[in-house]
Amino acid sequence: MKKKVIIDCDPGIDDSLALMLALSSPELEVVGITAVCGNVPVDLGTKNALKVLRFMGRLDIPVYQGADKPLRREYISAQDTHGKDGLGESGLEDVQDEKIHPQAVEFILDTLKKEKGISLLAIGPLTNVALALKKEPEVFENLDELVSMGGSYKSHGNCSPVAEYNYWCDPDAAAYVYEKLTSPINMVGLDVTRKIVLTPNLLEYMKRLNQRVGGFTEEITRFYLDFHWKQEGLIGCVINDPLAVAYMCKPHLCQGFDAYTAVETEGISIGQTLVDRENFWKKEPNSHILAEVDERGFMELFLERLCGGDVREIRKILGQIMTEEKIRYEKN
Ligand code: BDR
Ligand code: CA
Repeated sequence: MKKKVIIDCDPGIDDSLALMLALSSPELEVVGITAVCGNVPVDLGTKNALKVLRFMGRLDIPVYQGADKPLRREYISAQDTHGKDGLGESGLEDVQDEKIHPQAVEFILDTLKKEKGISLLAIGPLTNVALALKKEPEVFENLDELVSMGGSYKSHGNCSPVAEYNYWCDPDAAAYVYEKLTSPINMVGLDVTRKIVLTPNLLEYMKRLNQRVGGFTEEITRFYLDFHWKQEGLIGCVINDPLAVAYMCKPHLCQGFDAYTAVETEGISIGQTLVDRENFWKKEPNSHILAEVDERGFMELFLERLCGGDVREIRKILGQIMTEEKIRYEKN
């Protein structure tokens, strides 16, 4: 049985790769995509989701536009990282004549009401999810699971020494969802996503496996690679969001633990996730925190699903490429 999932996203370069992976994964049925302001303003993110759907030949999936600002905080985009258009300034044309549905929050609620067992995969700030939860909390009893890319346990932040972008962009939404959702949130944070690095060698291999998909991936990630080089001296780019998809398909790719987590909404550590692994606060766990990842297993799945090809052959080539590159990344 396929897992029915709503993907709430802010495309976004890595969000686009995550959408591509989800649409290529037999475990998942994407019932709708909702956009939220994050990497780019929400109208741009909505258009980008449609561009990815067109590339994947899946314009049958409905796309809904959601929140255009965080709950309380002033909106700050990540266009320095993802480009003005959110797709690495790749200049992809808009999808013409496609209907953009407003009311992402209503779509989330209506879908959850209609049917039990729907999952939510949130790979942007949690604003849409928080708004839906505030409006009709009881509807979330029907939710199968929430997988959220965001936060970090021990790893340093990517927006401040301690904060990850999605939760930093809308800390009040994140804090609300962690506090009020009655089922534990699967937190796919920087501890695990930082290990997922798409390097020039891997991109080259993707093109050899599948020129169309590899070429598209190269076009949208060029800007992101440059950003990582300037910012971190890394030859490659961290693709956070696809790991959340992979975890949903194959949970054994990541290992974690249950804990109570709170999100800071004020001050210099705004957006930080405080993961009480030692149980100082004596509170019931509200999250499952992913701390370890099989990065090679992830990459194998990512390449095989996006590009096709013989999995044994992919495993062999990844054995060459990733052993070399892991050494280099760790030295950094
Ligand atoms: C997260 O923030 C965004 O820039 C990415 O799309 C990802 O969802 C990583 O911190
Ligand atoms: Ca994202």
